[in-house]
Amino acid sequence: MRLGVITSGGDAPGMNAAIRAVVRCAIPSGLEVVGIERGYSGLISNQISPLDLRSVGKILHLGGTFLRSARCPEFKTIEGVQRGADVLRENQIDGLIVIGGDGSFKGAVKLGKHIDIPIIGIPATIDNDVAGTDTTIGFDTAVNTALNAIDKIRDTALSHERVFVVEVMGRDRGFLALEVGLTAGAGIILVPEIECSLKKIIEIIKGYEEKGKATTIIVAAEGIGNTSSVVKYIEKHTSFDVRLSKLGYIQRGGSPTARSRLLANLFGAKAVEIFLEGAKNKMIGLQDNNLVAVDLDYACNTWKPLNTNLYELAEKLAV
Ligand code: ADP
Ligand code: F6P
Repeated sequence: MRLGVITSGGDAPGMNAAIRAVVRCAIPSGLEVVGIERGYSGLISNQISPLDLRSVGKILHLGGTFLRSARCPEFKTIEGVQRGADVLRENQIDGLIVIGGDGSFKGAVKLGKHIDIPIIGIPATIDNDVAGTDTTIGFDTAVNTALNAIDKIRDTALSHERVFVVEVMGRDRGFLALEVGLTAGAGIILVPEIECSLKKIIEIIKGYEEKGKATTIIVAAEGIGNTSSVVKYIEKHTSFDVRLSKLGYIQRGGSPTARSRLLANLFGAKAVEIFLEGAKNKMIGLQDNNLVAVDLDYACNTWKPLNTNLYELAEKLAV
């Protein structure tokens, strides 16, 4: 039996560790493993080569994905998906492990309608926006990267008594901003899921000022839209000097944390285990510290709620 493994969508720290876990669990179980390069672009252009136990050596600690990743618009067309299914058949691939986010899983679900082989998803994205799992590979690393950056920003914010708006990634969701905001001790957290008007932002900053606080760190999810306009509004309506810091792509890179590696190992091993048991079209997830297998379709087509308790706690702790 030949198992294909692919990394797709935005890369996430821990993807390499997941590939390694898949290969090193599959081969001793008698499976052949092939790596598909450059996400679905590499699939439709047949960029496939064998992986052995040694070919995944020395990658556990590296961010990114040695198989490379891509966004592939062509895969959103029926022709693209059909071509992907044909290439899997030509290469006699009996099962596919897709390491990626909800977009990659949407593609995988469509692929599963054109070829009758098991497809197993491993959630890996810094956005943590995949339903059916409490967390995703790479999320913890991105939280820590952003947190370290904000700890540094706070030094200069305090020295200059400035307000800082720190924009973090997350696409259209606020998981990253919320966890970063809480752990960084942000004065205000702005996420797309929870309404916070510009007027309210000013009230909060002025309230802090009255209590003698001359620095406020605002952690804003990129998904709220134009963060520069938030900066301009605060400057106009308070006496503070305000700066914007977009953390950007540093959040996607770097060596995966122990937590991201642990998830990668557990998810990779479980994916191979359920493939061998005959599971089809499932995604591995972590729910309340238990490894689970949920329907891939559910995982990528269900809106995952934000933990509003964390938001309320952050509000309570910011005084
Ligand atoms: P992620 O997997 O990190 O969420 P994307 O949303 O960019 O990243 O999805 C990765 C790739 O998956 C896309 O470039 C595309 O090739 C494929 N994909 C995404 N959405 C769909 C869809 N609705 N149908 C088919 N393929 C999709
Ligand atoms: O999905 C991960 C992510 O980093 C999002 O947080 C961000 O919105 C997006 O990818 C950026 O995508 P690209 O790499 O295509 O610029």
